[in-house]
Amino acid sequence: MKKICYIVAMQAEAQPFIEKYGIKEKEGFFSPLPCKLYKGSINGCTLYVVLNGQQHGSDLVGCEAAAIATLSAIQKLSPDIIINSGTCGAFQAHGADIAEVYIGNGAMFHDRRVPGDDAWGTQSIGNYAVWEGSLRMAESLYMKTGKVTTGSSLDMQPCDLDMIQTHGGQLKDMEGAAVGFVCSLFDIPIVYVKSVTDLCDSGAETFEEFSRNLSKACEALRAANEKVIEYLTNIQ
Ligand code: ADE
Repeated sequence: MKKICYIVAMQAEAQPFIEKYGIKEKEGFFSPLPCKLYKGSINGCTLYVVLNGQQHGSDLVGCEAAAIATLSAIQKLSPDIIINSGTCGAFQAHGADIAEVYIGNGAMFHDRRVPGDDAWGTQSIGNYAVWEGSLRMAESLYMKTGKVTTGSSLDMQPCDLDMIQTHGGQLKDMEGAAVGFVCSLFDIPIVYVKSVTDLCDSGAETFEEFSRNLSKACEALRAANEKVIEYLTNIQ
């Protein structure tokens, strides 16, 4: 893998590994889009980190910004692989814990309720495949795997939970399936690296739990991404 490109929603999620690798921002690269590019090289490979960027003074989380960032990154950088890295909610009923890092084994949307025949339903849910080496990598790095489910809200409504449970979802985020959708159009392999900030079945208020655990989860994300980058840069 010669060109590895991260897509990350929040600066806080990327900052620990931006600092670790000393990669530098290429200002204005995606102008007029808000996305930000950091570029460096590691083990003879090019490492790109693309952030969704900001609007109205806060980081652009969510599917629209993630899709734009992914599309622009693929068109302008031609990466060999995309890594969508960030934080997520997970379920203590599945044995998840705060700051545990998972490798995604698939991605789908959990808040698209489109009635109709199978074709509509299948298309709206998504169910995007991950890079074929994801499970082997997770096993060799001693990391858990789980299915990423994506929606446009931080909270979880009963209908979201219903969809997550029906489809065996384990990790709840706001970007993963949107990044997977764009990768599927270009046939670019995707890896998900997701660190848990909150437990959707803990009964706690999600934003408070997310905020309290954000820096711990992002530190764990940095450590996991170092292993992932080491692994991928050793693949021809
Ligand atoms: N990112 C971190 N925690 C999340 C949650 N519970 N839902 C959606 N996105 C998240």
